[in-house]
Amino acid sequence: MTRHLRDLDDLGPGGLRRLLDLSAHMAEVNRRPVPKVPALRGRTVVSLFFEDSTRTRVSFETAAKRLSADTMAFSASTSSVNKGESLRDTVETISAMGVDAFVVRHKSSGVPWQISRWTDAAVVNAGDGWHEHPTQALLDSYTICEALHRRDLDGVRIAIVGDVRHSRVARSNRRAFTELGAQVTFVAPATLLPPSMDDWGVAVTEDLDALLPDVDVLYLLRMQRERTNEALLPSLREYTDRFGLTPERARRLRPDALVMHPGPMNRGVEITVDPSDLPGALITRQVTNGVAVRMAVLFDLLGSGADPRDAEGQ
Ligand code: NCD
Repeated sequence: MTRHLRDLDDLGPGGLRRLLDLSAHMAEVNRRPVPKVPALRGRTVVSLFFEDSTRTRVSFETAAKRLSADTMAFSASTSSVNKGESLRDTVETISAMGVDAFVVRHKSSGVPWQISRWTDAAVVNAGDGWHEHPTQALLDSYTICEALHRRDLDGVRIAIVGDVRHSRVARSNRRAFTELGAQVTFVAPATLLPPSMDDWGVAVTEDLDALLPDVDVLYLLRMQRERTNEALLPSLREYTDRFGLTPERARRLRPDALVMHPGPMNRGVEITVDPSDLPGALITRQVTNGVAVRMAVLFDLLGSGADPRDAEGQ
């Protein structure tokens, strides 16, 4: 049966830990002078992006190439979608060419699940609407574990700050961080929180300043300006005053606190300091680790199960 990564549930019990361990193997491949293994030779990975992206798309394509898979890129803006082709026709047409995995980003929640009903290929969710972004959660979990030299996040206090309501990153990260044992707090004005968070296992506050001295990881979300069509905030200026990482707040962080952001950053909105001035900033590590984590995901879905680091392991 074809396996997918549409959300973290698709990994099954213990799957999160297994993927983090596999990511560490892939990171070792990436440190080699020639960071490439033949593990997915002969396989084809198609990226199907209906929404803008820089890092996620390039990250997946780099990951596929480092595993020696063939890659194809589909971009909605230059495709027959502009001639009225339906999503289903697009997927069935590309499937008919014989592909092994679709990496999908779409502005509507649930599209990766729909696509998985129309194709025999594996489907990887690279972000669907406000819903899920499982590889971001994997790479962020990996990055924190790496920085803390730990295999879990037991007791680690993580504040996820900002536009939680419109954020697939917040939803997927909450899930991964709590499963690994972290204590997660959402920090946002009530207008930027989801209507219901029953069973999410998180604390919620509007008071970033009170929480700041007690956080081990400050995770800033991007203000999703393209998704905010109501007047949810008096002004971006006020948002920055209450929730932005300003120089004053940076000084009040614990000296060993880690600072993360999924990118792309709205400088001057959620962050007004230069992250390169913060000793605990992991934003570049997140991008670097994203490649290893996506290699692990593609190998987990399409590989033979043999050791991917081994040239004969295919
Ligand atoms: C995120 C996304 O698109 O969901 N970015 C990313 O994947 N690096 C976060 C965001 O756009 O806010």
